[in-house]
Amino acid sequence: MIRCEDLAWWQKTIAYEVYPKSFLDTRNRGTGTLKGITAKLDYLQSLGVGAMWITPCYKSPMVDNGYDVQDYYSIDPSFGTMEDMDELIARGRERGIRVVMDLVFNHTSDQCAWFQASKKSRNNEYADWYVWRDAREDGSAPTNWRSIFGGSAWEWCEKRGQYYLHTFAKQQPDLNWENPNVRKALFDIANYWADKGVGGFRIDAITYIKKPVVFADGPADGEDGLYPVHNATANQPGILDYLHEFKAAVRDGRDIFMVGEANGVDASELHNWVGEDGVFDLLFEFSHMHVPMGAAEIWCRPATWTLTDLKRALAASQEATATNGWYPAFFENHDQPRSTVNFFQCDGSLANKAKVLGAVLLTTRGTPFLYQGEELGYGNADWRDVDEFDDVQTRAQYDFAKGEGLDDADALAACVRFSRDNARTPMQWSDGAYAGFSAAAPWLPVHDDHAVCNVEAQESDPSSPLAWYRELAALRLKTPTLLAGDWTELMGESEQVLAFKRTYEDACVVTLANFSNEPAAYDPALVEGLTLLAGSQGTAEPGVLRPLEATVWG
Ligand code: NOJ
Repeated sequence: MIRCEDLAWWQKTIAYEVYPKSFLDTRNRGTGTLKGITAKLDYLQSLGVGAMWITPCYKSPMVDNGYDVQDYYSIDPSFGTMEDMDELIARGRERGIRVVMDLVFNHTSDQCAWFQASKKSRNNEYADWYVWRDAREDGSAPTNWRSIFGGSAWEWCEKRGQYYLHTFAKQQPDLNWENPNVRKALFDIANYWADKGVGGFRIDAITYIKKPVVFADGPADGEDGLYPVHNATANQPGILDYLHEFKAAVRDGRDIFMVGEANGVDASELHNWVGEDGVFDLLFEFSHMHVPMGAAEIWCRPATWTLTDLKRALAASQEATATNGWYPAFFENHDQPRSTVNFFQCDGSLANKAKVLGAVLLTTRGTPFLYQGEELGYGNADWRDVDEFDDVQTRAQYDFAKGEGLDDADALAACVRFSRDNARTPMQWSDGAYAGFSAAAPWLPVHDDHAVCNVEAQESDPSSPLAWYRELAALRLKTPTLLAGDWTELMGESEQVLAFKRTYEDACVVTLANFSNEPAAYDPALVEGLTLLAGSQGTAEPGVLRPLEATVWG
């Protein structure tokens, strides 16, 4: 058992992800700014936040909203200036909130100076900084790999007479990590930001950095109902060698943390990635996210699932990090639909659903990562037309669905259900025009429900999701059992209730969360001798949960 006093600062805090384009616009142009984040530090503090992950705000053509970086050493003018960033880092530190930068190191923008040079010829200084291959004899792409955003993962470059690899959009060419100069350039960037005083890094798409030794076709999409082709470059042997080098060059000797984004890794492999011999402090693995969506992430072919499937995935990650490594708990991020829709298959109030998820997130073992707006309990937005979406992946998934034979309405329905833009609509601060996000029309439509679901309204309602998240955040931060205690699943077979027990020294805390819209009975012995610490619907009796109710006992 880990002792509370031995936890690092990032293990005993709450992390919050900010999508800066949609957080707060201080210039009234319809897109959020860094100054907007600085203006809301008090708000983050009220949620017990000690680390704020900001998605990329570097100079970028914004094909993928900043995940296509043109220059890692400058701030995109749409967000503000480097002075604004320095100010945010400094003001945050005064409040005990450290900035976590997003490092996009699998690929750059095609507008990055490195790529601009690389594509010019086969023998310049940057020629080998990306993944270039000759065409097959018939002129076609070197392999049949599909990019994650749809279509071939290869793009032809006339000037070089070669194809380059892009795991994501064609404007996001993959870097060649085999080249030591590439690795050094990337580690220098991370050190530049660490020297500025950021508290850590979220490392984007890290499982794709190592390419296979042999570039060979995978099974075709759709064979046996599978869609495997985009996994050809995920989690390849040898990847950890690069990441150990990364850790030694950047992380070692600093009081920061690194959290990797690791699609393609599951709980059984976590010991290689985090903990004693690992390369990161935490790893976002997606097994629980894949429960509703399916691991192939084809939106028009969602999975059928039950609550026990979700519980198995969450328990496996907990168990894998029980004695080694640390778990980043999350139900949302900027790539996922809203969790109130994603993790429930029943009717019922979104506010109650948000509170159920909040209870799990804020009392489980690990570092909770909240995503902006999650604490207000939004649902997905009410998209009516595919042209309303901005996201490059949503458009690709729509086309894919059409290619699979779905009609317009069904292809749209798949996007409405899973689109990343559901998480990217402007933050809802008030019931004013544009939800208090901006005085100008925002880059994405404001959610229809902002008139009732907004920070201002929820701040004056003690039964709101926001009040619940604040209450549980405060409870977590003052309760050693919640910070450091062991985690044991309870009621593992229940298809209604997700429950677990945290134990530390002589104390224990029990969380019971009813994911169904029906009353759920449980054995009152589970909470015998304990008192109700928090109830999402007020007072509660041992032995039964109301529909969509969560209770915490200790
Ligand atoms: C994962 C990021 O979270 C996502 O938003 C982005 O599109 C891809 N990586 C590519 O960088």
